[in-house]
Formats: sequence, C-alpha cells, structure tokens
Amino acid sequence: MRIVLLGAPGAGKGTQCKRLVSQYSLAHLSSGDILRQERAQGTDLGRQAQSYMDSGALVPDDLIIGMMKKAIDQTPKAGYVLDGFPRTLKQALELDKVLVAGGSPIDAVINLEVDDAIIADRMSGRRSCPACGAVYHIRNLKPQKDGVCDKDGTALIQRPDDDLEVVKKRLETYRQQTQPLIGYYQKQGVLHEVDANAGADAVDSVIREVLDKLIVRRRPVARARR
Ligand code: AP5
Repeated sequence: MRIVLLGAPGAGKGTQCKRLVSQYSLAHLSSGDILRQERAQGTDLGRQAQSYMDSGALVPDDLIIGMMKKAIDQTPKAGYVLDGFPRTLKQALELDKVLVAGGSPIDAVINLEVDDAIIADRMSGRRSCPACGAVYHIRNLKPQKDGVCDKDGTALIQRPDDDLEVVKKRLETYRQQTQPLIGYYQKQGVLHEVDANAGADAVDSVIREVLDKLIVRRRPVARARR
C-alpha cells in the first residue's frame, strides 16, 4: 500500500505514521524528518532548507521534489506512507507523474482534520528526541522520565519551529499551499477524511478501519486475476 497522510502542522501525522509502519509493515517517509537529518549532518540541502524551516515557510519545491524522489526510489514499491509530502500542488503533480510512470499510484490519502485550538495545544506540548526523532507530549504522551527519551536516554527538546509565532506562520502556509490538495485528491477518489481531534488510539483505529476496508476490497480483484 502507498499512502499519503495529509493534515495541518501538529495534526498528528508523524504519530499516526509511526503506528501504521508497524501495523502494516510500511516504510515511513517523512519530508520533515529527512530535512532535519540533512540539517543535523550539515549537508548543502540542510543548509538551504534551514531559513525556510525556521521561519515556517515551505522549502522550495525543486529541493523537496528531488529529495523525496530519491527517498521513494530507495524504498520498496510495495509499501510506504508519505508524511509531510506532497505539500503543494506542484509536488502532488510530480509525485503522481513518478508513481504512475512506475505503475504504482497512491492507494489512499488520509486527511487528519483537527481543530485549531487542539493543534495549538499539541504543538506547544510536543517534545522531540533530537537523536532518534521520537515524539512525546508533556500531557498526552509523556516519556517515562520527564524530559528524557524512553528509547535512548537523550534529553528531549522543543522543536525551534514550535515557537508560537512560527506555528502561526506554519498554519497560514498550510492553509494557502497545502489545503488545496484535499480537493485535488478528492477528485481522484482516493481521499479519506478522518476526524483526528480524539486521542491517538481512537484516531489510529479509525485509520485502520479505512485501510482494512481498502485491503478487503482489493482481495477479490486479486483472486479474479489469478
Ligand atoms: P514537518 O516536520 O513535516 O512538520 P509539520 O507538517 O508541520 O508537522 P509536524 O511534524 O509539526 O506535526 P505532525 O502532524 O507530524 O504531528 P505529531 O505527530 O508530531 O515539517 C517541518 C518543516 O519542514 C516545514 O515547516 C517546512 O519548512 C519543511 N517541509 C517539510 N516537508 C516539506 C514539503 N513537502 N515541502 C516544503 N517544505 C517542507 O504530533 C504533534 C504533537 O501532538 C505531539 O506531541 C504528539 O504526541 C501529540 N499528538 C499527536 N496525535 C495526538 C492525538 N491524537 N491526541 C493527543 N495528542 C496527540
């Protein structure tokens, strides 16, 4: 299965992707995580992306498209979930071109719908591990020991782009440049809207329901072809 998770900053894309990866044996391709790795490694791409990310703007399409094409090329066609990509119409068109040419189009786009007040709470309470990328929340998903990553003991940080002013800009950027993708994927008949205001377990089970139905729907087709 090839899945795209859409949603505003802080909607819970990364949280849900991590769950899907283990439940459905998918690879997790997060454009934000890849960019943060590039920055940590001090690569040219990381340096070019830095000012855009810190201000809450999008990194230019050409840089992102090249980066994500490379990541998709290195991932088995059979299954992955895209988190944070595509984020503009140009990125979506390029993604379609690449996947259709390879005979492996997107199966489902899940749009996580979350109210603004909840987004603000999720972003302000998020804490991340700079070493392994694990994500926590000071109330909703606490680490076992305050401020310390359960997985590797690293001190947790608040992402610089979770600063209130930057969050406002990220939400504005999302509305202007990413929200139009909802209509784009609706027209393709692959969009599934999920109310993601509830806790992570509840959201997870709604997403699984959507994906399990898709899997079941495909089975008779596969048998008929044999
Ligand atoms: P990126 O890292 O992709 O940021 P984002 O899309 O803004 O999403 P976030 O990572 O902030 O949130 P999320 O939806 O994954 O939420 P999470 O699961 O962490 O991008 C960063 C920057 O990189 C961009 O601003 C841009 O500059 C650049 N960039 C990236 N991709 C790009 C692209 N394609 N084109 C151009 N530029 C690009 O959850 C948030 C918090 O809420 C956590 O604390 C979590 O524990 C908690 N939480 C999650 N779900 C729930 C729930 N259901 N109930 C309660 N708490 C929850």
